[in-house]
Amino acid sequence: MSNLLIVDDERSLREVLQIVFKKEGYKVSVASSYQEAVAQVKAAVYDLVVSDIKMNDGNGIDLLKDIKAANPETLVVMITAYATTENAIQALKMGAVDYILKDNENFVEEIKITVAKSLEFSRLRQEHRLLKRQFTQQNAIHNIVGSSPKMKELFQAIETVSATQSTVLITGESGTGKELVAKAIHLNGSRNDLPFVSINCGAFPETLLESELFGYMKGAFTGATINKKGLFEVADRGTIFLDEIGEMSLPMQVKLLRVLQEKKFRRVGGTEEIPLDVRIIAATNNDLQKLMAESKFREDLYYRVSVIPLEIPPLRERKEDIACLANHFLRKFNLQMERSILRISEEAMRSLEQYDWPGNVRELENTIERAVAFETTEEIKVERLPPKMSCLNPSEIGGSSKIPKNGIDLEKHIEEIEKSYIVEALQKCGGVQTRAAELLKMSFRSFRYFVKKYDLR
Ligand SMILES: Nc1ncnc2c1ncn2[C@@H]1O[C@H](COP(=O)(O)OP(=O)(O)OP(=O)(O)O)[C@@H](O)[C@H]1O
Ligand SMILES: [Mg+2]
Repeated sequence: MSNLLIVDDERSLREVLQIVFKKEGYKVSVASSYQEAVAQVKAAVYDLVVSDIKMNDGNGIDLLKDIKAANPETLVVMITAYATTENAIQALKMGAVDYILKDNENFVEEIKITVAKSLEFSRLRQEHRLLKRQFTQQNAIHNIVGSSPKMKELFQAIETVSATQSTVLITGESGTGKELVAKAIHLNGSRNDLPFVSINCGAFPETLLESELFGYMKGAFTGATINKKGLFEVADRGTIFLDEIGEMSLPMQVKLLRVLQEKKFRRVGGTEEIPLDVRIIAATNNDLQKLMAESKFREDLYYRVSVIPLEIPPLRERKEDIACLANHFLRKFNLQMERSILRISEEAMRSLEQYDWPGNVRELENTIERAVAFETTEEIKVERLPPKMSCLNPSEIGGSSKIPKNGIDLEKHIEEIEKSYIVEALQKCGGVQTRAAELLKMSFRSFRYFVKKYDLR
């Protein structure tokens, strides 16, 4: 039942409206003056207020401000005996839903319809918001694929954590899905219509990281030619994702700790204290315990950020997930490359399940991406997988070690090779993509996909 308040200093009109709206099935309260109305608006929550404009002790426009301040969701319909366009425009500008003349033979009918329509509109709007929210929430979690007991536990933890505002520390090897989980926590929580801002703390030298996070004022350092907001401000009321927090320098750790403790910060070169209102999610693939033992990570900061720790297990510890992840990526790349490969062959799936996945889900994703690109039949064959996965004895793959002493970023290395082939094929065929695709024995669609991926236009 909607809750109405009728405000008018003219008794007869008050009573008429009270009777009319009660008959319509609303819960109706009345106020006979501006002061009385203000007190009532502050004390209760009304769905809709019908208010006179001219009252002995004040006016309806001021009351409108008080109502919106108390509860911006409350609808307000203005009624008046003296119509001036100026008043009407002002009222509508300030958020009144309508403006009705008392001096009008259809007054009662008109106000009945206006009230009913406004309430219906507001109900639909609320319902829409709710559905939209449920939709993003569902999608957030459904984006994460996994059916192993460990992943089920993780889904449960995401649900629980989303409902709180606590700082979360996500740990896990590279490629396990830390950023995906951070986003799911954000989208599943109450701040989901506000920004999710992500920063890789390992990618910036110390001073740059500081100005990225806190912002700066013009003249704070050479190159600071404008005032700039930092990411803490950009993420205002939303979530900030501090990725690779283990890579942060010690002085920067001190600065971050201070901000987390005091819940306010200053831009570099600034004096204004800006309140911090963001949810913080941090992530690392470093062993922070070890870094603390080596005095490379501050213990006090660790306790600040790890209020709720979430660990994502490596893929090799949840091999049940490999098949559903592989099929998930098959669907994804079928869509992206406009292919229609039906399945992953049994033999190929067995190889995927036997492999240890040091690069975790990301490595699996990249493997399926390449397999989809190069597969010419309707199922992914084991031959499309890198030799190291195809259940062969490593000695059969051949040759001496190609891995340099300091190790190699295999993913990047393979991508570079891939790109060089695409470039060369394009050059050989004078930029004619269909011929270049033939040369590499891949479909035109796959070829076009790679051209786009490496921005080779
Ligand atoms: N459970 C999962 N379901 C679906 N996709 C996943 C899952 N886990 C990871 N991914 C995908 O794998 C890729 C790597 O995930 P993400 O970037 O979140 O990993 P990360 O832990 O942040 O890695 P890094 O430590 O290297 O930054 C992304 O494309 C992500 O969408
Ligand atoms: Mg990451």
